[in-house]
Amino acid sequence: MVADVESILIDRAQIALRVHDLGRELARDLQDELQREGHAGDDGSGRIVFVPILTGALVFTADLIRELTLKLSLRVVAVSSYPGTSIESKGAKLAGELPKDLSGKHVVIVDDILDSGQTLGLIDELIRTQKPASIRICVLLKKPPEVRRREVKAHYVGFDIPNEFVVGYGLDYDGYYRNLPYVGVLKKEAIGR
Ligand code: IMP
Ligand code: MG
Repeated sequence: MVADVESILIDRAQIALRVHDLGRELARDLQDELQREGHAGDDGSGRIVFVPILTGALVFTADLIRELTLKLSLRVVAVSSYPGTSIESKGAKLAGELPKDLSGKHVVIVDDILDSGQTLGLIDELIRTQKPASIRICVLLKKPPEVRRREVKAHYVGFDIPNEFVVGYGLDYDGYYRNLPYVGVLKKEAIGR
């Protein structure tokens, strides 16, 4: 498996440090949000909801939420955009249900990577219809703006990366490599095999 990786773009220690910082930033901003609403000193009555986009955001979300000591809940959403051995976005489709009870909540949408923007654009648009109190978008990785087909503002970004197909730390190729503890570039020979 590791033989399929050409190079490590971001190693395990770099990821851990950055996720820790992102967690602190999010905790501070969410705490401020609750304070403005008069929830100072209490737990915000469960108003914070993290919405990870399956399956890619699984590993990142697991680490990220453990950096926060706020009371929060998780509602997963599934989107399919890269079916099978494709490495180009075929447009995003909701797979399954959207969480229904997000009205008045502080929502943090989490994804592994912002690429064409179609996945996050879709989920952001769908969640907005429920009128949450606030929406934040948090991604581990962000590809350059030139690859965007839909404009999306990611409020929290772990790393800006070049336009390369990457795997690991939740990101897959054809369903594999999600368990690699780092983010790496896949060898050209491993694509389409
Ligand atoms: P978008 O809709 O094009 O922004 O793509 C978002 C989804 O495509 C992400 O949630 C990933 O699951 C997947 N994706 C985009 N770029 C990569 C990559 O370089 N490696 C693996 N998956 C990717
Ligand atoms: Mg994926």
